[in-house]
Amino acid sequence: MQATTAIPILLCKRLSTSKFVGARRSKVLTYDSINSHVKKVEYAVRGELAIRAEKIKEKLAKNEDLGFEAVVNCNIGNPQQLMQRPITFFRQVAALTEYPDLLSPENQDHVKALFPSDAIERARKLLKQIGSVGAYSHSQGVPHIRQDVAKFIEERDGYPSDMNNIFLTQGASSGVQSVLQLIITHPDVGVMIPIPQYPLYSATLSLFNARAVPYYLNEDDDWSLDIDQLTSSLANGRSKGCEVRALVIINPGNPTGQCLTERNMREIIEFCYNERIVLLADEVYQTNIYRPSERPFHSFKKILRSMGSKYEDFELFSFHSISKGMIGECGRRGGYYECTGIDREVVGQLYKLASVSLCPNVQGQIMVDLMVKPPKRGDPSHELYQKELKGIYASLKRRSEKLSGLFNSLDGVTCNDAKGSMYLFPRIRLPPKAIEAAREAGKQPDEFYCLAMLDATGVCVVPGSGFGQKDGTWHFRSTFLPPEELFDGFCANLKKFHQEFLSKYRD
Ligand SMILES: Cc1ncc(COP(=O)(O)O)c(C=O)c1O
Repeated sequence: MQATTAIPILLCKRLSTSKFVGARRSKVLTYDSINSHVKKVEYAVRGELAIRAEKIKEKLAKNEDLGFEAVVNCNIGNPQQLMQRPITFFRQVAALTEYPDLLSPENQDHVKALFPSDAIERARKLLKQIGSVGAYSHSQGVPHIRQDVAKFIEERDGYPSDMNNIFLTQGASSGVQSVLQLIITHPDVGVMIPIPQYPLYSATLSLFNARAVPYYLNEDDDWSLDIDQLTSSLANGRSKGCEVRALVIINPGNPTGQCLTERNMREIIEFCYNERIVLLADEVYQTNIYRPSERPFHSFKKILRSMGSKYEDFELFSFHSISKGMIGECGRRGGYYECTGIDREVVGQLYKLASVSLCPNVQGQIMVDLMVKPPKRGDPSHELYQKELKGIYASLKRRSEKLSGLFNSLDGVTCNDAKGSMYLFPRIRLPPKAIEAAREAGKQPDEFYCLAMLDATGVCVVPGSGFGQKDGTWHFRSTFLPPEELFDGFCANLKKFHQEFLSKYRD
């Protein structure tokens, strides 16, 4: 008792002699005193445009007349925010695992009336392995689920996969960050990233104080990846004193929507092998493939293993996620990465790193299990699962074609169509007057165009500068996720905006 009363007295004494009495104390944490690497981080996907979009939403909620009824968030690949329905089986299992009393004998009749038997069975099986979804799991992820992931990879690729090399994660992002943290040993470490790129990479490199070594994708050839470009980018990085340790490939691409050919993938592996570079393969869009016969998805793991024993020790990290594909469960934060050819002690360090955060969230892990092991033929839920999956896929493909068709019909705009992923990255050629007006407003021309689009239509996209682009070119990234029933209206609004913007700034 004495000790506890002593503390306030001591504190009072200190405050009473402090020069801050009556005045506000200065903050320990100010913009100037926080970690400077945090301040360097840029993430345009949720940048100025997205912040302005939130303000517009507030105005619309107060019934202000802005000439449109809603903000359409095409700035982020967030399917369920734009009304994509979750896969029924996945949510059934998630619901049952979340509230296990539903599985008790006294609720059996009600539950059987509401849930198919395979959802009930799967929930029971998962709970048997997991215990409670409210408990921490193994830091690397529930072993049973990792086993299912390994099986999925084996079936996908035709080569063995070991559950001990698989880490379940809070989305692909946290896996990428763990691996980059491990790779970056000093400020001159360079990581090769595509331009345009998904800004997780540039942001994480800023955060961990490493250097991005950009390589450019070729817009004139469907955003292809040219090995000569990798070679010159590497030489350039090395000439600037970078120790280049890793190469990031996003396949299918974000924001560019391309899908690599098998031949190109072999060349990339060979390049990394010869240059002693670790490969990070971001494969989160592996099921968003819209020309499967012409441009099928191949995993880097499969191509690597098909290249024979010379490449046995090749170092590869492959990332996947529940956020994309036809699943779109971004908010649940689930994913995994597989380590191929990574030294056991290094895997051990990754495990230690994972254990600092205890474990990835368990519902996210459950969703990973459902992604890699969906209802199979003959299961009660198979037909509905297939119907939902195919319905979403076909609609995404239609919407991607419609939107690229629209962009290509606009004056001064060209757009490669999407072979994969959820985005289009049209190039816009703006009149000199618009570029001048942007300069006067202190904005990049593409940012200026996107802000005008948001104000006129409520459609929020991301300026190309947020992903990187060749100097002197301007782009923006849009998802093609708005609901199909609203898609024609959405396209018409964009067309009208573009025409009005051009006539306003035409010479
Ligand atoms: C290429 C790429 N990698 C990773 C991510 C992050 O995904 P997750 O939600 O799994 O963290 C995204 C998200 O848009 C992405 O586009």
